[in-house]
Amino acid sequence: AAKKVAVVIGSLRKDSLNRKFAHELIALAPPSLQLEIVEIGELPLYNQDLEENGATAPQTWTHFRQRMQDAQAVLFVTPEYNRSVPAPLKNAIDIGSRPYGSSIWSGKPAAIVSVSPGATGGFGSNHHLRQSMVFLDMPLLQQPEAYIGGAAKLLGDDGKLNNDSTREFLQKFMNTFGAWVETNAKK
Ligand code: FNR
Repeated sequence: AAKKVAVVIGSLRKDSLNRKFAHELIALAPPSLQLEIVEIGELPLYNQDLEENGATAPQTWTHFRQRMQDAQAVLFVTPEYNRSVPAPLKNAIDIGSRPYGSSIWSGKPAAIVSVSPGATGGFGSNHHLRQSMVFLDMPLLQQPEAYIGGAAKLLGDDGKLNNDSTREFLQKFMNTFGAWVETNAKK
């Protein structure tokens, strides 16, 4: 059966370049992967008080954790904010990592695509995210690396990729990720 992959997008804005690239990546995925976007925009900021010492965790957290639990792998598509991971994405990572000892990230193969209209392709965000993934024990695709710079120019007015070499690269990236998931996914 195809492996379920949660696609987590680091931008909340409607016209997000990252969301557009996420849709392109989903379209380019090999049939061995079944990708679905898991939304993170409604998650309240992580606060231990909301679920410890007898408190019941917000339903949005529980729902998010369940959806991520169901996924066998994760694809992150994220912008860079001030050379780091956007707060909504970091918040989702923190929520998924708790309660202590029941992290939904643990052991799940993952890959990161960073997308920016700027020249550096979200390198800082991509690598700060990697730092958390290492701690969270996620087997993380190393190559090819995907820093998509000048991203606005790679999309047409219809929001679709208009650049063949980028499409070829993303195709290769998704095929390699498919093989990575096949090798590393648990169930
Ligand atoms: C940015 N942007 C940005 N770009 C970049 O390449 N490096 C950076 O460090 C930052 N920092 C940053 C901080 C904040 C608070 C915002 C709002 C934006 C610009 C960013 O790449 C641009 O807005 C993208 O279009 C955001 O991605 P989405 O929303 O299009 O997916």
